Amino acid sequence: MSRSYIKPLSSLQHDAEHAPLRRALGALNLTTLGIGSIIGTGIFVLTGTAASQHAGPALVLSMIIAAAGCVFAGLCYSELASMIPVAGSAYTYAYATTGELFAWIIGWDLMLEYALSCSTVAVGWAGYATSLLRDFGIHLPAVLSAAPGVPITLADGTLGHGIVNLPAMVIVLLVTALLTFGIRQSANTNTVLVVVKVLVLVAFVLAGASYVRRENLTPFIPPNTGEFGHFGFSGVLRGAGVMFFAFIGFDAVSTAAQESRNPQRDLPIGIMASLAICTVIFIVVAIVLIGIVPYTSLNVADPLAVGIDATGMTWLRPVVKFGAVLGLFSTILVQMIGQTRIFYSMSRDGLLPAIFGRVHPRFRTPHVSTLVTGTVCALVAGFTPINVLSELVSMGTLLAFVLVCIGIVVLRKTNPDTPRPFRTPGLPWVAIAGAAICLLQMVALPWPTWERLIIWLGIGMVIYVVYSKNHAEATRAAAA
Ligand code: ALA
Repeated sequence: MSRSYIKPLSSLQHDAEHAPLRRALGALNLTTLGIGSIIGTGIFVLTGTAASQHAGPALVLSMIIAAAGCVFAGLCYSELASMIPVAGSAYTYAYATTGELFAWIIGWDLMLEYALSCSTVAVGWAGYATSLLRDFGIHLPAVLSAAPGVPITLADGTLGHGIVNLPAMVIVLLVTALLTFGIRQSANTNTVLVVVKVLVLVAFVLAGASYVRRENLTPFIPPNTGEFGHFGFSGVLRGAGVMFFAFIGFDAVSTAAQESRNPQRDLPIGIMASLAICTVIFIVVAIVLIGIVPYTSLNVADPLAVGIDATGMTWLRPVVKFGAVLGLFSTILVQMIGQTRIFYSMSRDGLLPAIFGRVHPRFRTPHVSTLVTGTVCALVAGFTPINVLSELVSMGTLLAFVLVCIGIVVLRKTNPDTPRPFRTPGLPWVAIAGAAICLLQMVALPWPTWERLIIWLGIGMVIYVVYSKNHAEATRAAAA
């Protein structure tokens, strides 16, 4: 087999300078873009799932493990993002390091991260939105607010299963419409929504802090039930794999490289600052939530609302739900921007049809890839349960992080002289630690999630062999 094509760094830098996208974003915009992408369904919904099903109060340890993997991988991402400031994230970096085949695998894998997390967050959004509406006396039919197979309580009190999650589909389509009109409007909207969701989490902590009870936090690591991943040490690890979803998003900063005014300086700032701020917020929120109610009561669609109930401050309930509804909206927004920008890069390379790279003449946004992404994400959100989605997103993203950690070490060897405005400290150990922690979390995720990952990658390989490889070659030949 011939050697996989490695894209020269100089051509990537040329692409970065001549990108038709509007350069509108500074360091602060990028940090809020990161926070907008990170704070979402993970902290608002999965905290309850992971504490009640896997880790108990030791969820705090799970979060520290997940955060550590992200910090190490984030440091590696920062060097790559500052060195290769073009849209496309880990996909583009792989193209310049390990070659086209690897780049395709990562780009295909990243769809699990960005596109699927749009759908996952939309399902989390739908949980809070329907709960908020219920508080105001508006009851959406349960069968139309849950995916097939998800257990629900019907209006007559009997148990049944969902048919379709319509609210989740509607929110994805709304975000799609907004994004078609342009990055500047979207970035400004994002800033407002980020402020709202951070304030809601701060309000939750302030309201709940004095109600934390020591007995809710003991035993800190509940004994394992006899099944891998259900409490005990394996539960802490699986909790980390599940909670990892909450930290995903800082890398979305790197997908906005071509819309950034000073990517070399601002991308590392955006990545590390958003990750650090969110890690602190998450750990504090988790301690308060698990401290005010027994973790066993948190397996619900709106766990923060359950926490608020325990404080007796019921007036705060709709405020938290409303904040979650607005905040999760912004997460969907940023994840979708990430996906469309990756499509954009892949299509310019010929790995995907050219239509994905088309930029609207007036809005200057990749409108076709936005509409395709939005439609697919809406369908997936309507028909898939949240735990299936979130675990697959975690799995796919963990794999991408492992590959980024490996990629940076390779690049230091293959391109030692390329300027690195930001250098990852402590290499190779930081990269080794990042890859090891991410692998550990992958191993802790359940086997069906592995099967889904393998099937997805298998489909990707078929498409590469049948379509993408030849088209990428033809694209390069035409450009030469
Ligand atoms: N980190 C994002 C969330 O929790 C994907 O929703």
